[in-house]
Amino acid sequence: MSAPDGPALPFEPFKAKVVERIPNPSREDRERALERAGFNLFNLRSAEIRIDLLTDSGTGAMSDRQWSALMVGDEAYAGSRNFEEFEATVRELTGFPFVLPTHQGRGAENVLVSVLVRPGSIVPNNMHFDTTEAHVRNRGGEPKNLASADAYDPESDLPFKGNVDLDRLGALLRTAGEGRVPLAFVTLTNNAGAGQPVSFANFRATAELCRSHGVPLYVDMCRWAENAYFVKTREPGMRERSIAEIGRAFFDLADGATMSAKKDGLVNIGGFVATRDARVADRLKEALILYEGFPTYGGLARRDLGAMAVGLAEATDLEYLEHRIGQVRFLAGLLDRAGVPFFKPVGGHAVYLDVRRFLPHLDAAELPGQALVVELYREGGVRAVEIGSIMFGGQDGIPARPLEMVRLAIPRRVYSASHLAYVADVVARVHARRAEIGGLRMTHRPERLPHFTARFAPVERAAVAAPRAA
Ligand code: F0G
Repeated sequence: MSAPDGPALPFEPFKAKVVERIPNPSREDRERALERAGFNLFNLRSAEIRIDLLTDSGTGAMSDRQWSALMVGDEAYAGSRNFEEFEATVRELTGFPFVLPTHQGRGAENVLVSVLVRPGSIVPNNMHFDTTEAHVRNRGGEPKNLASADAYDPESDLPFKGNVDLDRLGALLRTAGEGRVPLAFVTLTNNAGAGQPVSFANFRATAELCRSHGVPLYVDMCRWAENAYFVKTREPGMRERSIAEIGRAFFDLADGATMSAKKDGLVNIGGFVATRDARVADRLKEALILYEGFPTYGGLARRDLGAMAVGLAEATDLEYLEHRIGQVRFLAGLLDRAGVPFFKPVGGHAVYLDVRRFLPHLDAAELPGQALVVELYREGGVRAVEIGSIMFGGQDGIPARPLEMVRLAIPRRVYSASHLAYVADVVARVHARRAEIGGLRMTHRPERLPHFTARFAPVERAAVAAPRAA
């Protein structure tokens, strides 16, 4: 179906049964909120937000089947029936025999990394998400991002810009030295790199490289179903396979996975770590009990495991994914018509605005990504997130990021096409007055994961332009 003279309208394969009123803060309310929040949108109250595109993590709507699974929770501390349903579902989807629930993705990362990573370890990934990177560093390891050069090019229209650079991975594995690389990750889809997918061919070659060097390969599978959708629709020979079959083909080549089920598990909280290796599984269980909880609940209510089992299966439904990716494309199509620069092609869960082309008059020190996030909120109460040098490095000797982006993440099954049209209109209005937008400076800089708690203040344009005092 298409709108008159516009991008294809995504057909919602669900209807509303419960609704929630959307707040409508006035311009004065928004100005006051920005001041109070220290220009960090993580500090806003949700009552101050019209459309919330901060994240697609844990912000989706559960289905009636998931809600009914919650109502039949078996809250036994150990041996709950919900754990059995959850374990069976994950085993079927992934083939991994050992499955341990965690409260969310970073819980899974902490448990896995605490067991495998030592000071001096090197951990490759196409691109680490910030929490994965922080957990590797927290154990004294060194995260290495080895995505192909295409991942850093916001304009080329290539199908799999999340792919691993096999030459660089091969060189790292050959030269790292015995035992220095305790595991490799591949992140599906590559969230830190505009949500771009990884092809099956590239994943298979990555797995072969890792195997030939005896390095276990773990999948950061947060958005594995979205990745499988791109493989199905873009990779030769894959069209006839189901989403679940494609996912399974990836997992069959891997040694394990970490999962934030707040994404393609379609729940508001939950995750897991899974492995094929019985010895690793024993050590994971010990760490799990220390950090998360007993292995049959892992920091969750047992009813949450029931909802997760249903959600994981629903995420493989093709009609669901067509709508999901269709929403991202719909928003991108409207932005394209307005001449707004964004990372192309769009990935599975978000549109990533290309900040350098959006605000070319601001330099990196003026924090243009955060400045844009602030303007989107100021203009229309839309909350987005900076994915650039505030979220990733640019401090303490870590080089600033090659990509400066603002992510408009679309929660699953929450907003309609008219909400997205509203967002496109807000972004286009900000784009039209982009030349007037000034920068920000950081007034409070936390040491780790700075974007969550940093505070900012506007930079006076004149002050930026003024020559430095001798
Ligand atoms: N890996 C990836 C690729 C992620 O996108 C996230 C979370 C995590 C791991 C950690 O999972 O939040 O459940 O602890 N991403 C969220 C986001 C926060 O907004 O993209 P978590």
